Parts: sequence; structure tokens; C-alpha cells
Amino acid sequence: MAESIKVLIPEAEVAKRIEELGRQISEDYAGKQIHMICVLKGGVFFMCELAKRISVPVSLDFMSVGSYGDGTASSGVVKIAKDLDEALEGKDVLVVEDIIDSGRTLYYLLDILAKRQPNSMRLCTLLDKPDRRVRDVKVDYVGFEIPDEFVVGYGLDYAQKYRNLPYIGVVEGVE
Ligand code: IMP
Ligand code: MG
Repeated sequence: MAESIKVLIPEAEVAKRIEELGRQISEDYAGKQIHMICVLKGGVFFMCELAKRISVPVSLDFMSVGSYGDGTASSGVVKIAKDLDEALEGKDVLVVEDIIDSGRTLYYLLDILAKRQPNSMRLCTLLDKPDRRVRDVKVDYVGFEIPDEFVVGYGLDYAQKYRNLPYIGVVEGVE
């Protein structure tokens, strides 16, 4: 069977939810500046759309992490492949992720970032798969809770493909 994508969350629904999140975040951070940290590569589409919906001043930085070891399940030991350009000290940091699955990546990453003494740090994810959680991470803003299915689009990939889909989909026809 050929690989195909079934739409799980249509483009308009994603856009509407991001607008709501942007409004909520703007209210919560009234009078402050948000230092948004994008976890590459998956978080980049969401971060750009979200940043456009936030009405308080923002600054942006990027980092890339990978987990040590092989296999599809993350080992939980995070290796920083590309670190942030700027210090976090005194900043109101909002970490922006594409999806939280086991929670291992974020658990380690938030620990590393907290040691850099931001004034505050919150976490925003487009998607959350709570059924899969192994590590307890406190998520402050969630776009959508989804069932335990492998999803693509809006930054999320399957073997580096499909990141550019403007909706969230499920890959069908793969073993
Ligand atoms: P975890 O929370 O440490 O298990 O890992 C989360 C990372 O695994 C995410 O940042 C994604 O890169 C990847 N991931 C988890 N679930 C999916 C999925 O359904 N589609 C695409 N990537 C996923
Ligand atoms: Mg990711």
C-alpha cells in the first residue's frame, strides 16, 4: 500500500487554536517581554505562527537537541546539537515544542535551561500525547491533546518528510 496522509486536525482548526493560544499568552505576559525558545526542527512552524499571534514584545532563539543512543524511543539523555545564542538570565522564557510524547526530551532540556537562571520559564506545545508520558513534565500551554498515533505536518516529520504540511495528519500505509 502506498504511503498516504489522513488529516487529523485541519489547517483552519490549527490556525484557530494558535490564535487562541497567542491571545492567552499575551494576556498572561502583559507588560513583559517573552523570550521564545524554539526546539528545532519540529517546533519552527508552530513558533513562527504563534509569535505572530502574540501582542507583547518577543525575542526568539533556537536550539537543537538529540538523544543519545539509537532506536526510535528517545533514550532520555539529551545532547545539545545547537545551543542558544543568548543567555537566559533574567528573561521570561517560553519554550516552544511541536509535540510531547514520552516527555524525556523536555524533562532533561528544562532542567538544563533552568540552571541558566531565567526569571521564569514556561512550556508551550502544539501537541500532547499524554498516554505516552514516562517523565512528568509540567506543560503550561497545549494546542491539542491527541491519541497515541504517529503524526506529521506543521513541523513534525516521518523520516524528515511532511514537515511542511499545513495541517496535522497521520501516516497510513507504512509497516
Ligand atoms: P519525547 O517526548 O522525549 O518522547 O520526544 C518527543 C520528540 O519525539 C518530539 O519532539 C518529536 O521530535 C518526536 N515525536 C514524538 N511523537 C511524534 C509523532 O507522532 N510524530 C513525529 N515526531 C514525534
Ligand atoms: Mg521535537
